[in-house]
Amino acid sequence: MAGISRLDKSYPEKDGIILTLKERSRVPLAQSSNFLPLTAKLYEPLWRHRSLGILTRGSFSTQRELELMLEWLEAKANETILDAACSAGLYARTLANYEPTLNLTATDFSLPFLQQAKSYAEQKNVQLELIQADVRELPFEGDSFDAIVCGGSLNEFTDLPTTLAEFARVLKPGGRMWQMYLKEAEGWAGKSLQGLIKLSGIRFIDPKELEQLAQEANLTLQKAQHRGVVVMSLFKKARADHA
Ligand SMILES: C[S@@+](CC[C@H](N)C(=O)[O-])C[C@H]1O[C@@H](n2cnc3c(N)ncnc32)[C@H](O)[C@@H]1O
Repeated sequence: MAGISRLDKSYPEKDGIILTLKERSRVPLAQSSNFLPLTAKLYEPLWRHRSLGILTRGSFSTQRELELMLEWLEAKANETILDAACSAGLYARTLANYEPTLNLTATDFSLPFLQQAKSYAEQKNVQLELIQADVRELPFEGDSFDAIVCGGSLNEFTDLPTTLAEFARVLKPGGRMWQMYLKEAEGWAGKSLQGLIKLSGIRFIDPKELEQLAQEANLTLQKAQHRGVVVMSLFKKARADHA
């Protein structure tokens, strides 16, 4: 496997996956399912490919989400892109299919998800660098990536300011960041359902608060599209550090 990202030091590798974590990251109890092989196996076929259709009650689809991600990201030949908290690597594979010269790194803290990402990538003959890592402390040198894509994971991250600062650190100046996430529902039925889901450690994000936190991390909102509770947005790291 080609070493394409700029790791901050050398780490052990097992079965084609680079391991940067000494122990399993701490997560809310209900998020422990991310570490089960069965979750990793069923995630894409049972949920991910239908998720946007279900979440928007048919007004959008996962296929259109992927098309919008490609359109807004404008990935160019040979760029270096990080699929952060990749689960089974849907974004990374989509990018590889779109532009085969991209250098793609996919990270997650769940080993079963990374093993599933490896299996799908091999089936599709896609080259991915797979790294077990926590977004709160990414194992990369600064200014490593032209772009970051992150789908549905902001809702699971437990420390958004630290994570956004890490994303900004590893992005090159002018680098782009695509985020798809779920915001707070407006109607009482949606709010009640989200209230139950919150018990599992998932949070629903206020887009204005995210914009503010991202700005504090030197990531400026470029555009956003809201489809029901689903928000897709593109941020850019400033070309030079703030004075
Ligand atoms: C909603 S899924 C991501 C879906 C995926 N991006 C896609 O588009 O199919 C959330 C993922 O975030 C990962 N995750 C949550 N917190 C994390 C953290 N602190 N560091 C790394 N991965 C994390 C979970 O293991 C899970 O695979």
